[in-house]
Amino acid sequence: MQSTSFSVGSKGMNGIFVSFEGIDGAGKSTHIHTLAKCLEQQGRVVTLTREPGGTPLAEQLRVLVLNEPMDPMTEALLVFAARREHVCQVIVPALARGEVVLCDRFTDASFAYQGAGRGFDTAILSQLERWVQGTATFSGTAGEHAFVQPDLTFWFDLPAQVAASRLTNARSPDKFEAQSKEFFDRVSQGYALRLAADSQRFARIDANQTQDAVWNAVQQVARGRGLLQ
Ligand code: TYD
Repeated sequence: MQSTSFSVGSKGMNGIFVSFEGIDGAGKSTHIHTLAKCLEQQGRVVTLTREPGGTPLAEQLRVLVLNEPMDPMTEALLVFAARREHVCQVIVPALARGEVVLCDRFTDASFAYQGAGRGFDTAILSQLERWVQGTATFSGTAGEHAFVQPDLTFWFDLPAQVAASRLTNARSPDKFEAQSKEFFDRVSQGYALRLAADSQRFARIDANQTQDAVWNAVQQVARGRGLLQ
């Protein structure tokens, strides 16, 4: 296990940026909240947030993206527009204050859902990623930093079939949750590609285990990376 210390964030800001990914039904939400509590008990200030969303405007965009049928490029532009607001208003300021940012989904979700799932052009997604996460145009605290990217990304990997059976009893499905098993197989492949391209950043968690076993795996990674004591 890599034992990189996060005492100084890799982007020159003091905070630590952690994202959580996986197909719908992979079970990441419980673990994000538990990790937030553990970090707070250890004296860290935590900003717990999500995408699409995290600001009033981005939450409005979330409602549209999750519920309205739209052209794939419109969808991609809206998730990145929401991200830009979120990065500028919430993530960069929290990192500059030295906080731990725990973010339920980030750009890997756009590559997995819009890219691999929908088949939208990943070259355009890469360009949007550079624009939206590039800090050259940020005013204020993070002006001199090049790029906002998670220091650590947990990928909760679960077969689409198992995730679907977990979602069966859930509330009425949104636009994505209603997609086919084949769609989610492609989304998982999209996450696998992102991991292959940036394996240092990613921690793959086998989510096809009991909740306790998944939490143990999360804790082990968090300790190994110096996030949890
Ligand atoms: P999710 O994070 O699963 O929230 P909840 O647990 O409340 O359902 O829902 C967000 C949905 O948005 C999910 O289906 C994936 C999708 N999404 C994208 O398609 N692209 C993105 O860039 C992001 C951040 C999310």
